[in-house]
Amino acid sequence: MSEKYKICGNAEVRIDDQVFTLPVFEGSEGERAIDIRKLRSETGLITLDSGYMNTGSCTSNITFLDGEKSVLHYRGYSIEDLADQCSFVEVAYLLIHSKLPTNVELDGFKRQLNDHSILHEDMIHFFDRFPPAASPMSILSSMVNSLHNFYPEMDDPLETLNITAARLLSKVRTIAAFSYKKSNGYPLVYPRFNLSYCANFLNMMFDSPVRPYLINDVVVDALNKLLILHGDHEQNCSTATVRMVGSARVNVYASISAGINALWGPLHGGANQAVMEMLEEIHQDGGNYRKFIEKAKDPDDPFRLVGFGHRVYKSHDPRCRIIKKACDDVLKSLQMEDDPLLAIAKELEEVALSDEYFIERRLYPNVDFYSGIIYRAIGIPTNMFTVMFALGRLPGWIAHWEEMWKSPDARISRPRQIYTGPLLRKFVPIEERE
Ligand code: ACO
Repeated sequence: MSEKYKICGNAEVRIDDQVFTLPVFEGSEGERAIDIRKLRSETGLITLDSGYMNTGSCTSNITFLDGEKSVLHYRGYSIEDLADQCSFVEVAYLLIHSKLPTNVELDGFKRQLNDHSILHEDMIHFFDRFPPAASPMSILSSMVNSLHNFYPEMDDPLETLNITAARLLSKVRTIAAFSYKKSNGYPLVYPRFNLSYCANFLNMMFDSPVRPYLINDVVVDALNKLLILHGDHEQNCSTATVRMVGSARVNVYASISAGINALWGPLHGGANQAVMEMLEEIHQDGGNYRKFIEKAKDPDDPFRLVGFGHRVYKSHDPRCRIIKKACDDVLKSLQMEDDPLLAIAKELEEVALSDEYFIERRLYPNVDFYSGIIYRAIGIPTNMFTVMFALGRLPGWIAHWEEMWKSPDARISRPRQIYTGPLLRKFVPIEERE
């Protein structure tokens, strides 16, 4: 076994009257796992774990997450330090290259991002062929998939991965902004070499021939933070998808396109959009947020306060402290504290945080709650929220794809199952069937 973890003990499994010994491994932060890879060959049994709630599908040295202690590290650096002191481009470099860049390396990376920011003009025709109401996520995944045709990789994709990574980070930003412009029938705004990554994106989104976009540093800073906070989150649904699809030795564009499709779901990347829809519903209903809190607390009502609670973080989501502050700064800077939906969000947050029901169950606002508010305040339409999430998650997906591809232990992903269907039946010819 090649990865950096060590055997720290054994576990015994008793099956009927036989006892089997399995090794226990420990990761660098003390997490432990029973290695069951030989379980089937030795016992004939598999493990059953629907939804992979307790299954480690790989070892990884990219992200460490401890939900109980509210810890999130990328490549060993705390999310607090990274969000406070780095740009998204620096963090993307860290995730992809495993180290923080020097000034020279960062300049080189920025140059690469600039060099690859323009789309092949033939790709721009694709936008004209989508119907006007096309989902930006479907446009994004189709366009990313088709990048493979315009920018084929070498036989050994690792040889050109540095350029492919820069291409993806830069072009996905352009595709996202173009899909917004096209869906509104506005003229396209091309990337500019003199703007930073986030400022360039905002300019492509909101600049127009009649009203030049004024770059607001507070907004740029908040966008950098949002993208950093979404950079990676270990084996979530979309990242696991990228690794799984890539394990069939599929190119990085197709693997990431699959990840984008996984992220599209309302149970995954679609949650911040759902937050805004809930706030809209409360607003339409007269702004009576207390009624919705009562509905959320009612055990007979399936309604849940979207944007509250987290599957992994049970004390608080470490990303929330950072994003809440950025949210306050943006609302203040844009003088939007009076926006009705944002006002409802603030009231909900305050009431829920002091309500026994939410306190007892350790239900805090999650990162989706605040990211939706910031995106709305800066003018990103609700149906593009998940695209923004994808933009932030890209470096994580690329890093995982590369890690999976390079690992000598990587095999094509092939989970097992327990069959619960009918036993062998006698075949009945069609004319005799009832
Ligand atoms: N509103 C009201 N009650 C809730 C909420 C909520 N948002 N979330 C959990 N609860 C209650 C449950 O009803 C349950 O109550 P009970 O003990 O009386 O039965 C208790 O809290 C525990 O709930 P679980 O579903 O067991 O918690 P779990 O950790 O499995 O769920 C989840 C986490 C799915 C995020 C949940 O909190 C939820 O549905 N939240 C709303 C949707 C949301 O915001 N999703 C985005 C998550 S962040 C992300 O994916 C990036």
